Amino acid sequence: MEVVNVELGDRAYPIYVGAGCLADLGTRLAETGCGKRVAVVTNSTIANIYLGPAVASLAGAGLDPAIIQIPDGEEHKNLAWLAFVYDRLIDAGVDRGGALVALGGGVVGDLTGFAAATYLRGIDFVQVPTTLLAQIDASIGGKTGINHPAGKNLLGAFKQPRFVLADVDCLRTLPRREFVAGLAEVVKTGAILDAELFALLEAELPALLQLEREILVRVIRRCCQLKAIVVAEDETEGGYRAILNFGHTVGHAIESLTDYTTYLHGEAVAMGMVAAARVSHRLGFCDDATVRRLTKLIERCGLPTEVPADLGRDAIALAMRTDKKALAGTIKFVCLEGIGTTRFERLTCEEIVRYI
Ligand SMILES: NC(=O)c1ccc[n+]([C@@H]2O[C@H](COP(=O)([O-])OP(=O)(O)OC[C@H]3O[C@@H](n4cnc5c(N)ncnc54)[C@H](O)[C@@H]3O)[C@@H](O)[C@H]2O)c1
Repeated sequence: MEVVNVELGDRAYPIYVGAGCLADLGTRLAETGCGKRVAVVTNSTIANIYLGPAVASLAGAGLDPAIIQIPDGEEHKNLAWLAFVYDRLIDAGVDRGGALVALGGGVVGDLTGFAAATYLRGIDFVQVPTTLLAQIDASIGGKTGINHPAGKNLLGAFKQPRFVLADVDCLRTLPRREFVAGLAEVVKTGAILDAELFALLEAELPALLQLEREILVRVIRRCCQLKAIVVAEDETEGGYRAILNFGHTVGHAIESLTDYTTYLHGEAVAMGMVAAARVSHRLGFCDDATVRRLTKLIERCGLPTEVPADLGRDAIALAMRTDKKALAGTIKFVCLEGIGTTRFERLTCEEIVRYI
């Protein structure tokens, strides 16, 4: 098992990455010194596959887990299901010494983390991410929250987990489309932070697509390490952490214009990254070869690269302007300077859509 540390002083924590490490969940959690009564939050899909092994591991380490199951789907990452989690925690008698286990993808992780940040003014929680996106991104860095009818992730808190346990074997049951969508964030990590990782992806993509354990562990560990560095530098997204938004400005606009129903987040980010690379090239920040290299790798993953023609440029500009990260019609846009290097540029929404 590989271990990556997120260096955050008294909130520092390890990320464990391995094949089959779900079996170690109980031991790892007991090591944190938490009380016996803990709660596993998961959804119906994941419960069918991983709840048994997770509970067996917890019980084997002397812990007494309550089970809290929510329905599957982003539409349940809301206040009503958060309230349901609070109710179950109270019923189960989880006290301040207890801990929550988020067993699932980013939806379960975000909701559980927010419950942990607020229940009894905050109790410990751990992340057991089961999607590729959650293993390399959502479970790390302490952003937790829920959606509001007025927008995604409008309610939330920063709350770091005590540890993250990423078992790459869980990816074997993940629907193919979800896995491929997660690859978009893997490609993003290489594109913005690590030319070596990017080259590794170019060389080993077939093995990765076949879920070969060794390459999965290697790539996921490296992505976790890079995200950990960014988070340690800027925990609450005051500045540098915004580098992770590469491809997300246009990606979010595509998701919002299609009501979050047509594309998975990673698919929208894939199109957004190609768009961002084109903007960077047209502004003279990177060469054409960089745009072509990025586009090719995204294509080889099986991800879309072109912003759908039926989404008008004006509509995309408008959607970007109403994004919660926009400021007076301008965006702190992440431009690519080359594979592995970026710069921030404040651009108007019109400037961005002109070049995508
Ligand atoms: N907190 C953060 O920093 C952060 C970062 C990125 C995204 N997010 C959030 O993450 C969420 C998206 O997360 P996601 O992409 O993991 O989606 P998800 O949690 O909805 O999971 C995707 C689907 O895969 C299923 N699934 C999960 N693991 C499985 C497995 N091993 N086998 C079979 N099926 C499995 C889920 O039940 C679901 O149907 C969004 O709500 C987004 O806002 C948070």
